[in-house]
Amino acid sequence: MPALVLLGAQWGDEGKGKATDLLGGSVDYVVRYQGGNNAGHTVVVGDQKYALHLLPSGILSPGCTPVIGNGVVVDPSVLLSELSGLNDRGVDTSKLLLSGNAHIITPYNVTVDKVTERFLGKRKIGTTGRGIGPTYADKINRVGIRVQDLYDESILTQKVEAALDVKNQLLTKLYNRRAIAVDQVVEELLGYAEQLRPYVADTVLVLNQALEQDKVVLFEGGQGTLLDIDHGTYPFVTSSNPTAGGACTGTGVGPTKISRVIGILKAYTTRVGAGPFPTELFDEDGEALRRIGGERGVTTGRDRRCGWFDAVIARYATRVNGLTDFFLTKLDVLTGWEQIPVCVAYEIDGKRVEELPYSQSDFHHAKPVYETLPGWSEDITGAKSFADLPKNAQAYVKALEEMSGAPISAIGVGPGRDETIEINSFL
Ligand code: GDP
Ligand code: IMO
Ligand code: MG
Repeated sequence: MPALVLLGAQWGDEGKGKATDLLGGSVDYVVRYQGGNNAGHTVVVGDQKYALHLLPSGILSPGCTPVIGNGVVVDPSVLLSELSGLNDRGVDTSKLLLSGNAHIITPYNVTVDKVTERFLGKRKIGTTGRGIGPTYADKINRVGIRVQDLYDESILTQKVEAALDVKNQLLTKLYNRRAIAVDQVVEELLGYAEQLRPYVADTVLVLNQALEQDKVVLFEGGQGTLLDIDHGTYPFVTSSNPTAGGACTGTGVGPTKISRVIGILKAYTTRVGAGPFPTELFDEDGEALRRIGGERGVTTGRDRRCGWFDAVIARYATRVNGLTDFFLTKLDVLTGWEQIPVCVAYEIDGKRVEELPYSQSDFHHAKPVYETLPGWSEDITGAKSFADLPKNAQAYVKALEEMSGAPISAIGVGPGRDETIEINSFL
Protein backbone atom coordinates (compact mmCIF):
# COMPACT_ATOMS: atom_id res chain seq x y z
CA MET A 1 0.00 0.00 0.00
CA PRO A 2 1.56 3.30 -0.99
CA ALA A 3 1.89 6.36 1.20
CA LEU A 4 -0.40 9.37 1.66
CA VAL A 5 0.49 12.97 2.44
CA LEU A 6 -1.83 15.23 4.42
CA LEU A 7 -0.91 18.91 4.46
CA GLY A 8 -2.22 22.44 4.98
CA ALA A 9 -3.48 24.15 1.83
CA GLN A 10 -3.52 27.70 3.25
CA TRP A 11 -1.52 29.45 6.02
CA GLY A 12 -1.77 26.69 8.63
CA ASP A 13 -4.39 25.84 11.26
CA GLU A 14 -6.71 24.33 8.65
CA GLY A 15 -7.58 21.40 10.93
CA LYS A 16 -4.74 19.02 10.01
CA GLY A 17 -4.67 17.54 13.52
CA LYS A 18 -8.30 16.51 13.37
CA ALA A 19 -7.96 15.08 9.84
CA THR A 20 -4.81 13.12 10.74
CA ASP A 21 -6.40 11.79 13.89
CA LEU A 22 -9.42 10.67 11.89
CA LEU A 23 -7.24 8.65 9.50
CA GLY A 24 -4.92 7.53 12.31
CA GLY A 25 -7.25 4.67 13.21
CA SER A 26 -6.81 3.13 9.75
CA VAL A 27 -3.10 3.67 9.09
CA ASP A 28 0.00 1.96 10.48
CA TYR A 29 2.35 4.96 10.72
CA VAL A 30 1.80 8.72 11.03
CA VAL A 31 4.96 10.69 10.29
CA ARG A 32 5.77 14.38 10.87
CA TYR A 33 8.20 15.45 8.14
CA GLN A 34 9.04 19.12 8.83
CA GLY A 35 8.57 21.98 11.25
CA GLY A 36 8.68 21.56 14.99
CA ASN A 37 6.78 22.83 17.99
CA ASN A 38 5.74 25.94 16.07
CA ALA A 39 2.80 23.71 15.07
CA GLY A 40 -0.31 23.53 17.23
CA HIS A 41 -2.73 20.75 16.32
CA THR A 42 -5.97 20.37 18.23
CA VAL A 43 -7.57 16.95 18.35
CA VAL A 44 -10.92 16.33 19.99
CA VAL A 45 -11.73 12.75 20.92
CA GLY A 46 -15.06 12.37 22.70
CA ASP A 47 -15.00 14.86 25.56
CA GLN A 48 -11.19 15.01 25.59
CA LYS A 49 -9.26 17.79 23.87
CA TYR A 50 -5.55 17.42 23.09
CA ALA A 51 -3.14 20.13 21.89
CA LEU A 52 -0.19 18.56 20.09
CA HIS A 53 2.88 20.50 18.98
CA LEU A 54 5.65 18.13 18.06
CA LEU A 55 4.09 14.70 18.23
CA PRO A 56 2.28 13.38 15.15
CA SER A 57 -1.48 13.37 15.63
CA GLY A 58 -1.47 9.57 15.11
CA ILE A 59 -0.18 9.25 18.68
CA LEU A 60 -3.80 9.16 19.87
CA SER A 61 -4.63 6.04 17.81
CA PRO A 62 -3.46 2.92 19.68
CA GLY A 63 -2.69 0.84 16.57
CA CYS A 64 -0.61 3.51 14.93
CA THR A 65 3.15 4.09 15.20
CA PRO A 66 3.99 7.81 15.43
CA VAL A 67 7.24 8.88 13.79
CA ILE A 68 9.24 12.11 13.93
CA GLY A 69 11.16 12.21 10.65
CA ASN A 70 14.60 13.58 9.84
CA GLY A 71 13.13 16.82 8.46
CA VAL A 72 11.64 17.87 11.81
CA VAL A 73 13.43 20.14 14.29
CA VAL A 74 13.07 18.84 17.83
CA ASP A 75 13.15 20.73 21.10
CA PRO A 76 13.92 17.86 23.52
CA SER A 77 12.38 19.56 26.54
CA VAL A 78 9.12 20.15 24.63
CA LEU A 79 9.09 16.58 23.32
CA LEU A 80 9.60 15.10 26.78
CA SER A 81 6.98 17.28 28.41
CA GLU A 82 4.47 16.53 25.64
CA LEU A 83 5.11 12.80 26.15
CA SER A 84 4.70 12.98 29.92
CA GLY A 85 1.56 15.13 29.56
CA LEU A 86 0.00 12.43 27.36
CA ASN A 87 1.17 9.62 29.64
CA ASP A 88 -0.51 11.39 32.57
CA ARG A 89 -3.75 11.30 30.58
CA GLY A 90 -3.38 7.56 29.92
CA VAL A 91 -2.10 7.75 26.33
CA ASP A 92 0.49 5.11 25.47
CA THR A 93 3.41 6.85 23.75
CA SER A 94 5.90 3.98 23.88
CA LYS A 95 5.75 3.29 20.13
CA LEU A 96 7.13 6.71 19.15
CA LEU A 97 10.12 6.65 16.78
CA LEU A 98 12.48 9.61 16.51
CA SER A 99 14.92 10.01 13.63
CA GLY A 100 18.57 10.15 14.73
CA ASN A 101 19.08 12.65 11.88
CA ALA A 102 16.47 15.14 13.10
CA HIS A 103 18.01 18.43 14.19
CA ILE A 104 17.80 19.64 17.77
CA ILE A 105 16.43 23.06 18.70
CA THR A 106 19.05 24.17 21.24
CA PRO A 107 18.44 26.86 23.88
CA TYR A 108 20.63 29.27 21.88
CA ASN A 109 18.43 28.79 18.78
CA VAL A 110 15.41 29.89 20.83
CA THR A 111 17.34 32.93 22.10
CA VAL A 112 18.45 33.88 18.58
CA ASP A 113 14.84 33.58 17.29
CA LYS A 114 13.58 35.97 19.95
CA VAL A 115 16.36 38.55 19.72
CA THR A 116 16.23 38.57 15.92
CA GLU A 117 12.51 39.33 15.96
CA ARG A 118 13.08 42.11 18.48
CA PHE A 119 15.88 43.50 16.33
CA LEU A 120 13.69 43.45 13.20
CA GLY A 121 11.14 45.68 14.96
CA LYS A 122 8.37 46.66 12.52
CA ARG A 123 9.78 44.28 9.91
CA LYS A 124 9.43 41.24 12.17
CA ILE A 125 7.95 38.00 10.80
CA GLY A 126 5.85 37.32 13.88
CA THR A 127 7.46 33.92 14.46
CA THR A 128 6.31 31.60 17.21
CA GLY A 129 9.62 32.28 19.02
CA ARG A 130 10.34 28.55 19.28
CA GLY A 131 13.78 28.66 17.59
CA ILE A 132 12.55 27.13 14.33
CA GLY A 133 14.25 29.47 11.81
CA PRO A 134 17.65 29.60 13.57
CA THR A 135 17.70 25.77 13.91
CA TYR A 136 17.04 25.27 10.19
CA ALA A 137 19.63 27.99 9.48
CA ASP A 138 22.20 26.02 11.50
CA LYS A 139 21.25 22.87 9.58
CA ILE A 140 21.84 24.57 6.23
CA ASN A 141 25.01 26.26 7.53
CA ARG A 142 26.23 22.80 8.61
CA VAL A 143 26.62 23.76 12.25
CA GLY A 144 23.46 22.03 13.46
CA ILE A 145 23.17 19.51 16.30
CA ARG A 146 21.39 16.25 15.50
CA VAL A 147 19.64 13.80 17.80
CA GLN A 148 22.43 11.27 17.25
CA ASP A 149 25.02 13.79 18.53
CA LEU A 150 23.55 13.44 22.02
CA TYR A 151 25.23 10.03 22.23
CA ASP A 152 28.81 11.21 21.66
CA GLU A 153 29.85 13.82 24.21
CA SER A 154 33.06 14.76 22.44
CA ILE A 155 31.36 15.35 19.08
CA LEU A 156 28.50 17.18 20.78
CA THR A 157 30.94 19.52 22.55
CA GLN A 158 32.83 20.27 19.34
CA LYS A 159 29.60 20.99 17.47
CA VAL A 160 28.16 23.24 20.17
CA GLU A 161 31.51 25.10 20.25
CA ALA A 162 31.40 25.59 16.47
CA ALA A 163 27.81 26.85 16.59
CA LEU A 164 28.41 29.22 19.51
CA ASP A 165 31.65 30.70 18.14
CA VAL A 166 29.76 32.90 15.71
CA LYS A 167 26.53 33.20 17.70
CA ASN A 168 28.23 34.54 20.79
CA GLN A 169 29.85 37.28 18.69
CA LEU A 170 26.42 38.21 17.39
CA LEU A 171 24.75 38.02 20.77
CA THR A 172 27.34 40.08 22.62
CA LYS A 173 28.44 42.57 19.95
CA LEU A 174 25.28 43.16 17.97
CA TYR A 175 22.40 42.24 20.23
CA ASN A 176 23.97 43.36 23.49
CA ARG A 177 23.23 40.06 25.25
CA ARG A 178 25.33 37.81 27.46
CA ALA A 179 27.40 35.07 25.80
CA ILE A 180 26.10 31.51 26.15
CA ALA A 181 28.48 28.99 27.77
CA VAL A 182 29.29 25.83 25.78
CA ASP A 183 29.44 23.64 28.92
CA GLN A 184 26.02 24.67 30.07
CA VAL A 185 24.42 23.82 26.72
CA VAL A 186 26.25 20.50 26.47
CA GLU A 187 25.19 19.56 30.00
CA GLU A 188 21.56 20.39 29.30
CA LEU A 189 21.51 18.44 26.04
CA LEU A 190 23.25 15.41 27.56
CA GLY A 191 20.57 15.44 30.25
CA TYR A 192 17.98 14.54 27.60
CA ALA A 193 19.99 11.77 25.95
CA GLU A 194 18.94 8.78 28.06
CA GLN A 195 15.30 9.83 28.21
CA LEU A 196 15.16 10.02 24.41
CA ARG A 197 17.20 6.88 23.71
CA PRO A 198 14.26 4.40 23.63
CA TYR A 199 12.68 6.31 20.75
CA VAL A 200 15.72 6.94 18.54
CA ALA A 201 15.67 4.87 15.36
CA ASP A 202 16.72 4.65 11.73
CA THR A 203 13.32 5.91 10.62
CA VAL A 204 14.25 5.92 6.90
CA LEU A 205 14.81 2.18 7.03
CA VAL A 206 11.73 1.53 9.20
CA LEU A 207 9.40 3.47 6.89
CA ASN A 208 10.72 2.00 3.65
CA GLN A 209 10.52 -1.52 5.06
CA ALA A 210 6.98 -0.83 6.26
CA LEU A 211 5.98 0.28 2.76
CA GLU A 212 7.55 -2.86 1.28
CA GLN A 213 5.37 -4.86 3.66
CA ASP A 214 2.23 -3.07 2.42
CA LYS A 215 1.76 -1.04 5.57
CA VAL A 216 -0.11 2.27 5.28
CA VAL A 217 2.01 5.35 5.99
CA LEU A 218 0.54 8.83 6.43
CA PHE A 219 2.81 11.87 6.27
CA GLU A 220 1.44 14.75 8.33
CA GLY A 221 2.56 18.27 7.42
CA GLY A 222 2.88 21.08 9.91
CA GLN A 223 2.04 24.71 8.92
CA GLY A 224 0.70 25.14 5.36
CA THR A 225 1.45 25.69 1.68
CA LEU A 226 1.59 29.51 1.89
CA LEU A 227 4.05 29.25 4.81
CA ASP A 228 6.45 27.12 2.74
CA ILE A 229 9.99 28.56 2.53
CA ASP A 230 10.05 28.06 -1.27
CA HIS A 231 6.41 28.32 -2.33
CA GLY A 232 4.92 30.53 0.37
CA THR A 233 4.64 34.26 0.88
CA TYR A 234 8.38 34.71 1.49
CA PRO A 235 9.76 36.17 3.75
CA PHE A 236 6.57 35.81 5.83
CA VAL A 237 6.92 32.03 5.98
CA THR A 238 8.30 29.30 8.17
CA SER A 239 11.78 27.89 7.52
CA SER A 240 10.85 24.48 6.09
CA ASN A 241 8.89 22.81 3.29
CA PRO A 242 5.33 21.89 4.40
CA THR A 243 4.49 21.30 0.69
CA ALA A 244 4.30 17.73 -0.60
CA GLY A 245 7.95 17.49 -1.67
CA GLY A 246 8.96 18.03 1.95
CA ALA A 247 7.40 14.68 2.82
CA CYS A 248 10.08 12.95 0.73
CA THR A 249 13.13 14.89 1.89
CA GLY A 250 11.86 14.99 5.46
CA THR A 251 11.47 11.22 5.75
CA GLY A 252 13.70 9.55 3.16
CA VAL A 253 10.77 8.01 1.28
CA GLY A 254 10.84 8.46 -2.50
CA PRO A 255 8.06 10.23 -4.46
CA THR A 256 7.15 7.03 -6.35
CA LYS A 257 5.74 5.65 -3.09
CA ILE A 258 3.20 8.46 -2.65
CA SER A 259 -0.22 7.84 -4.16
CA ARG A 260 -2.41 10.46 -2.56
CA VAL A 261 -1.83 14.06 -1.47
CA ILE A 262 -4.66 15.49 0.62
CA GLY A 263 -4.90 19.26 1.13
CA ILE A 264 -6.66 20.39 4.29
CA LEU A 265 -8.68 23.46 3.39
CA LYS A 266 -10.64 25.68 5.74
CA ALA A 267 -14.01 26.90 4.40
CA TYR A 268 -12.68 30.44 5.02
CA THR A 269 -9.10 31.69 5.54
CA THR A 270 -6.93 32.46 8.59
CA ARG A 271 -3.36 33.50 9.16
CA VAL A 272 -1.17 34.10 12.25
CA GLY A 273 1.83 36.43 12.21
CA ALA A 274 2.75 39.08 9.67
CA GLY A 275 2.50 39.05 5.87
CA PRO A 276 0.07 39.63 3.00
CA PHE A 277 -3.46 38.20 3.16
CA PRO A 278 -5.74 39.51 0.36
CA THR A 279 -9.10 38.41 1.80
CA GLU A 280 -8.41 39.56 5.37
CA LEU A 281 -11.43 41.19 7.03
CA PHE A 282 -11.20 44.07 9.47
CA ASP A 283 -14.93 44.36 10.10
CA GLU A 284 -17.55 42.53 12.14
CA ASP A 285 -17.54 39.58 9.71
CA GLY A 286 -13.87 39.00 10.51
CA GLU A 287 -14.64 39.31 14.21
CA ALA A 288 -17.52 36.84 13.86
CA LEU A 289 -15.36 34.27 12.01
CA ARG A 290 -12.77 34.57 14.80
CA ARG A 291 -15.37 34.16 17.53
CA ILE A 292 -17.46 31.37 15.97
CA GLY A 293 -14.42 29.54 14.58
CA GLY A 294 -12.48 29.86 17.87
CA GLU A 295 -9.60 31.29 15.85
CA ARG A 296 -6.94 31.70 18.49
CA GLY A 297 -3.47 30.16 18.11
CA VAL A 298 -2.87 26.83 19.88
CA THR A 299 0.86 27.54 20.22
CA THR A 300 1.15 31.24 21.00
CA GLY A 301 -2.43 32.15 21.98
CA ARG A 302 -2.46 34.97 19.40
CA ASP A 303 -5.75 35.89 17.70
CA ARG A 304 -5.75 34.58 14.13
CA ARG A 305 -6.40 37.04 11.31
CA CYS A 306 -9.59 35.95 9.51
CA GLY A 307 -11.02 36.40 6.01
CA TRP A 308 -13.19 34.85 3.32
CA PHE A 309 -12.26 31.79 1.31
CA ASP A 310 -9.63 32.46 -1.35
CA ALA A 311 -9.91 30.16 -4.38
CA VAL A 312 -6.75 31.57 -5.98
CA ILE A 313 -4.76 30.19 -3.05
CA ALA A 314 -6.59 26.86 -3.15
CA ARG A 315 -5.76 26.47 -6.88
CA TYR A 316 -2.14 27.32 -6.13
CA ALA A 317 -2.05 24.68 -3.38
CA THR A 318 -3.45 22.11 -5.82
CA ARG A 319 -0.67 22.94 -8.26
CA VAL A 320 2.42 23.08 -6.03
CA ASN A 321 1.43 19.97 -4.06
CA GLY A 322 -0.11 17.90 -6.85
CA LEU A 323 -3.18 17.53 -4.65
CA THR A 324 -5.44 14.57 -5.37
CA ASP A 325 -8.11 15.53 -2.79
CA PHE A 326 -9.25 18.24 -0.45
CA PHE A 327 -10.58 17.80 3.09
CA LEU A 328 -12.76 20.88 3.63
CA THR A 329 -12.94 21.84 7.31
CA LYS A 330 -15.07 24.14 9.48
CA LEU A 331 -18.01 24.41 7.09
CA ASP A 332 -20.23 24.62 10.20
CA VAL A 333 -18.60 27.96 11.14
CA LEU A 334 -20.21 29.60 8.08
CA THR A 335 -23.74 28.69 9.17
CA GLY A 336 -25.87 31.80 9.64
CA TRP A 337 -24.44 34.13 7.01
CA GLU A 338 -27.07 35.16 4.46
CA GLN A 339 -24.48 35.66 1.76
CA ILE A 340 -20.93 34.30 1.69
CA PRO A 341 -18.32 36.08 -0.45
CA VAL A 342 -15.64 33.89 -2.06
CA CYS A 343 -12.52 35.32 -3.69
CA VAL A 344 -12.33 33.95 -7.25
CA ALA A 345 -9.53 36.15 -8.66
CA TYR A 346 -7.44 39.21 -7.79
CA GLU A 347 -7.35 42.66 -9.21
CA ILE A 348 -3.80 43.89 -9.53
CA ASP A 349 -3.17 47.36 -10.97
CA GLY A 350 -6.58 47.35 -12.60
CA LYS A 351 -6.12 43.93 -14.23
CA ARG A 352 -7.96 40.72 -13.30
CA VAL A 353 -5.51 37.97 -12.35
CA GLU A 354 -6.69 34.35 -12.00
CA GLU A 355 -3.53 32.78 -10.55
CA LEU A 356 -1.27 33.62 -7.62
CA PRO A 357 1.25 36.20 -8.89
CA TYR A 358 4.87 35.12 -8.50
CA SER A 359 5.92 38.70 -7.74
CA GLN A 360 5.60 39.60 -4.06
CA SER A 361 5.00 43.27 -4.89
CA ASP A 362 1.95 42.24 -6.94
CA PHE A 363 0.68 39.93 -4.22
CA HIS A 364 1.06 42.63 -1.58
CA HIS A 365 -1.42 44.86 -3.34
CA ALA A 366 -3.71 42.21 -4.83
CA LYS A 367 -7.36 43.07 -4.19
CA PRO A 368 -9.84 40.21 -3.95
CA VAL A 369 -12.52 39.87 -6.63
CA TYR A 370 -15.53 38.35 -4.88
CA GLU A 371 -18.42 36.23 -6.04
CA THR A 372 -21.20 35.98 -3.49
CA LEU A 373 -22.84 32.65 -2.76
CA PRO A 374 -26.11 32.21 -0.86
CA GLY A 375 -25.71 31.07 2.75
CA TRP A 376 -27.73 28.69 4.97
CA SER A 377 -29.10 28.90 8.49
CA GLU A 378 -29.74 25.24 9.38
CA ASP A 379 -27.43 23.60 11.96
CA ILE A 380 -25.17 21.22 10.00
CA THR A 381 -23.09 19.80 12.85
CA GLY A 382 -25.08 16.54 12.84
CA ALA A 383 -24.81 15.98 9.07
CA LYS A 384 -23.47 12.52 8.25
CA SER A 385 -23.68 12.59 4.47
CA PHE A 386 -23.47 15.18 1.72
CA ALA A 387 -27.22 14.80 1.16
CA ASP A 388 -27.84 15.84 4.81
CA LEU A 389 -26.45 19.31 4.06
CA PRO A 390 -28.84 22.14 3.14
CA LYS A 391 -28.95 22.85 -0.61
CA ASN A 392 -26.99 26.11 -0.27
CA ALA A 393 -24.25 24.42 1.77
CA GLN A 394 -24.01 21.72 -0.91
CA ALA A 395 -23.76 24.41 -3.58
CA TYR A 396 -21.04 26.24 -1.57
CA VAL A 397 -18.97 23.02 -1.36
CA LYS A 398 -19.47 22.27 -5.07
CA ALA A 399 -18.49 25.83 -6.02
CA LEU A 400 -15.30 25.62 -3.93
CA GLU A 401 -14.45 22.26 -5.49
CA GLU A 402 -14.89 23.62 -9.00
CA MET A 403 -12.71 26.66 -8.27
CA SER A 404 -10.00 24.79 -6.37
CA GLY A 405 -9.05 22.10 -8.86
CA ALA A 406 -9.36 18.86 -6.86
CA PRO A 407 -12.27 16.85 -5.46
CA ILE A 408 -13.47 17.60 -1.93
CA SER A 409 -13.44 14.12 -0.44
CA ALA A 410 -14.39 14.95 3.16
CA ILE A 411 -16.10 17.81 4.98
CA GLY A 412 -15.65 18.84 8.61
CA VAL A 413 -18.83 20.00 10.32
CA GLY A 414 -17.47 20.17 13.88
CA PRO A 415 -14.21 19.62 15.81
CA GLY A 416 -14.97 16.03 16.90
CA ARG A 417 -13.64 12.91 15.14
CA ASP A 418 -17.16 11.87 14.14
CA GLU A 419 -18.22 15.33 12.96
CA THR A 420 -17.02 14.56 9.46
CA ILE A 421 -18.79 13.79 6.20
CA GLU A 422 -16.80 11.29 4.14
CA ILE A 423 -17.48 11.52 0.41
CA ASN A 424 -14.62 9.51 -1.12
CA SER A 425 -12.58 7.13 1.00
CA PHE A 426 -8.92 8.13 1.46
CA LEU A 427 -7.72 4.53 1.83
P1 GDP B 1 -4.04 22.47 12.59
O1 GDP B 1 -2.88 23.28 13.07
O2 GDP B 1 -4.16 22.47 11.10
O3 GDP B 1 -4.07 21.08 13.17
O4 GDP B 1 -5.34 23.22 13.11
P2 GDP B 1 -5.58 23.82 14.60
O5 GDP B 1 -5.83 22.68 15.52
O6 GDP B 1 -4.52 24.79 14.94
O7 GDP B 1 -6.90 24.68 14.36
C1 GDP B 1 -8.07 24.09 13.88
C2 GDP B 1 -9.18 24.27 14.94
O8 GDP B 1 -10.43 23.96 14.35
C3 GDP B 1 -9.06 23.33 16.13
O9 GDP B 1 -9.56 24.00 17.25
C4 GDP B 1 -9.96 22.15 15.77
O10 GDP B 1 -10.49 21.48 16.90
C5 GDP B 1 -11.04 22.87 15.02
N1 GDP B 1 -11.68 22.10 13.93
C6 GDP B 1 -11.14 21.22 13.06
N2 GDP B 1 -12.06 20.83 12.14
C7 GDP B 1 -13.21 21.48 12.46
C8 GDP B 1 -14.52 21.53 11.88
O11 GDP B 1 -14.81 20.91 10.87
N3 GDP B 1 -15.44 22.36 12.49
C9 GDP B 1 -15.14 23.10 13.61
N4 GDP B 1 -16.10 23.86 14.14
N5 GDP B 1 -13.93 23.06 14.18
C10 GDP B 1 -12.98 22.28 13.60
P1 IMO C 1 0.16 24.58 12.37
O1 IMO C 1 0.91 23.30 12.13
C1 IMO C 1 -0.09 28.88 11.70
C2 IMO C 1 3.72 31.04 11.33
C3 IMO C 1 4.08 32.01 12.45
C4 IMO C 1 4.86 33.04 11.64
C5 IMO C 1 5.61 32.19 10.62
C6 IMO C 1 7.05 31.87 11.00
O2 IMO C 1 -0.53 24.65 13.68
O3 IMO C 1 -0.70 24.90 11.20
P2 IMO C 1 8.11 30.20 12.79
O4 IMO C 1 8.01 30.17 14.29
O5 IMO C 1 7.63 28.95 12.11
O6 IMO C 1 9.46 30.62 12.30
O7 IMO C 1 7.11 31.41 12.34
O8 IMO C 1 4.87 30.98 10.51
N1 IMO C 1 3.43 29.66 11.79
C7 IMO C 1 2.19 29.14 11.83
N2 IMO C 1 0.99 29.71 11.58
N3 IMO C 1 0.00 27.58 12.05
C8 IMO C 1 1.20 26.99 12.28
O9 IMO C 1 1.34 25.67 12.48
C9 IMO C 1 2.36 27.80 12.23
N4 IMO C 1 3.69 27.56 12.41
C10 IMO C 1 4.31 28.70 12.13
O10 IMO C 1 2.94 32.55 13.04
O11 IMO C 1 3.97 33.86 10.93
MG1 MG D 1 -2.45 24.85 14.31
